[in-house]
This record gives sequence, structure tokens and C-alpha cells, in this order.
Amino acid sequence: MIENKIAKPFLKWAGGKTQLIPDIEKTLPVNITQTKFTYIEPFVGSGAVLFWVLNNFPNLKKAVINDINEDLINTYKTIADKPKELISILDILQNEYHNLEGNEEKKKHYYYQKRELYNSRKEEPCGQAALFIFLNRTCFNGLYRVNRKNEYNVPMGSYKHPTICDRENILAVSEALQKVEILCGDFEQTLDYADKNAMFYFDPPYKPLSETSSFNSYAKDEFNDNEQIRLRNFCNKLDLLGLYWILSNSDVKGKDMNDNFFDDLYSDFNIQRVVAKRSINANPEKRGKLTELLITNQMNNQNYGRAI
Ligand SMILES: C[S@@+](CC[C@H](N)C(=O)[O-])C[C@H]1O[C@@H](n2cnc3c(N)ncnc32)[C@H](O)[C@@H]1O
Repeated sequence: MIENKIAKPFLKWAGGKTQLIPDIEKTLPVNITQTKFTYIEPFVGSGAVLFWVLNNFPNLKKAVINDINEDLINTYKTIADKPKELISILDILQNEYHNLEGNEEKKKHYYYQKRELYNSRKEEPCGQAALFIFLNRTCFNGLYRVNRKNEYNVPMGSYKHPTICDRENILAVSEALQKVEILCGDFEQTLDYADKNAMFYFDPPYKPLSETSSFNSYAKDEFNDNEQIRLRNFCNKLDLLGLYWILSNSDVKGKDMNDNFFDDLYSDFNIQRVVAKRSINANPEKRGKLTELLITNQMNNQNYGRAI
């Protein structure tokens, strides 16, 4: 039975936005979500907000997702088009891995062998997608990090009995993705897919709070300050076109009071500071509460919240 299963993110992903959803919900203009609308997420990652939108808004006409990470997008496309084939490969990986429990050396060997196979990028797309999910479920802290050669380099994690093949969720996600256009490339290309009643949610790689906290290498090219500025320019463009957007980012001012990078960059827009707990940090002591930025181009005379 899968009919009633609710699709949820199928990956662990640095910066997953589940905890920000209540704050995001409060910023949604009712005039958009009350009529047929298009949801666009240009930096989709694990899609925490995407799945929330897919599950909660009956007026959603379609969704468009995008990410620059080709391997991630291959995984979304595989789930959408070939869920059963994917499940059968994941099932094998899960059985093989679980059978090694109790023998750390063999488990380690298996993990690094699969990582090497993944990095050779020799498997066909469905096999690559299965390896992507396998590594995500068994690696250290669910991180996705690659080097300049696009080689995935996260070490093995210490999960005791990880679920590698979540059959029901993959089928539910596959079903939910039938409404979704899946794109791979730079965030700017999503503008071509916007109609009048569109809403964008941007969750770009965060500006690191310190040199060592930088877990934003999801892709082989860095998302530096110039990229943050290019994104703001894109947001300006959407605003001029009358398109609504929400953007989240790290609150660099919380760390250094004199750092006005985002306050200056988005001074024409509405900036809120919200509390969010980061769970991906190698040091558990640093997993405390931090504020994050939620920026919108909302107008003050609108109603906000979810109207369903
Ligand atoms: C902070 S993560 C998104 C997290 C996501 N919202 C979630 O809930 O898991 C940022 C994403 O931006 C992608 N990315 C980096 N540079 C990009 C670009 N120029 N255009 C589109 N996506 C990009 C990364 O591959 C990564 O998946």
C-alpha cells in the first residue's frame, strides 16, 4: 500500500530547510497561493520546502526545480522516471551493506569501493542514482562534498543500521514528482519557466560564518560573494517583473556585528531574522541556535500565511 504515503526528502542534505518551514509559511502571500500558482526552487538540494509545498497546496499548478549538481538532478530524474529499477538496485546495496554489520573493516572496504565506483561515473544513470543515495545514507553526517575534479570525498559515517532503500518513500516521491519540471544548471535559467503567478524560493549555498565552518562545497565551483551579488541582481530582476520571492541565507551579522553584507545587499527588501538550528556541524558543541535570514520582496498591504 503506498497510496497514502506522503513524499518526504529522500536525502540528508547540509542546510535542509525543514526547520524554517513555519517561518516561510508566514511570509507566503495569500493572493498567490489561493489561486493556481507555480512554485520554483532554483537551488533545490534535498527539497525540504519543495515536498512541503507539494503536500500542502492544492492550488499548486506545477513546480519547477533546479540545481547545478548534475548527480543530484540525475537522482531526481531517476526517481521520477524509473523508481522500481532504482529500488531494485538499492535493495541489493542495502542487503549487501547490512550483511557486513559487525565487521567494520569489511563495511569500510565496501563503502570506499562504492565511492570509487561512483566517482568513476561509469554506471548508467539509474546505477549512479542508486550509488548517490547509498553514499548519502552511509557517509559521515549525510554530507555532499566534492573536490575540484568533482570527486565525492566524504568519509564513511558511523550509522549502525542505515535505511538505504526506503521503498515506500521512493514510490511516493516518484508520484509527487510527476507535477515537477526538473532542471539542471545555473539558477538564472529558472526565469524562463515562470508565469505570472509564480513564487520563487531561493536557498543558495550559505555564506560561510567562518573559514572553517564552510560546508558549502556542494558543487565543484564555489558560491562566493560575487555569486551572492549575482543572485541579488536576479532577485531585483524578478521584483521588477512583479514576481514574488523568498530567500534564506546565513546571518553573518549574528557572528560579527559589523558585517552588513546581506543587510546592505538586500536593503531594498524585507529582511527578517529567524532562529534555526543547524544540524550539520562536525563539532556537536557548535550545533547550537543561530539566526538565519529570511528575505522577501513582499508588499506591506498583503495578507500572509497559508490559506487552504
Ligand atoms: C543550501 S543548498 C539547498 C538546500 C535545500 N534547500 C534543502 O532543503 O536541502 C544549495 C544548493 O545550491 C546548489 N547550487 C550551487 N550553485 C548553484 C548555482 N549557480 N545554480 C543552481 N544551484 C546551485 C548546490 O548544488 C546545493 O544543492
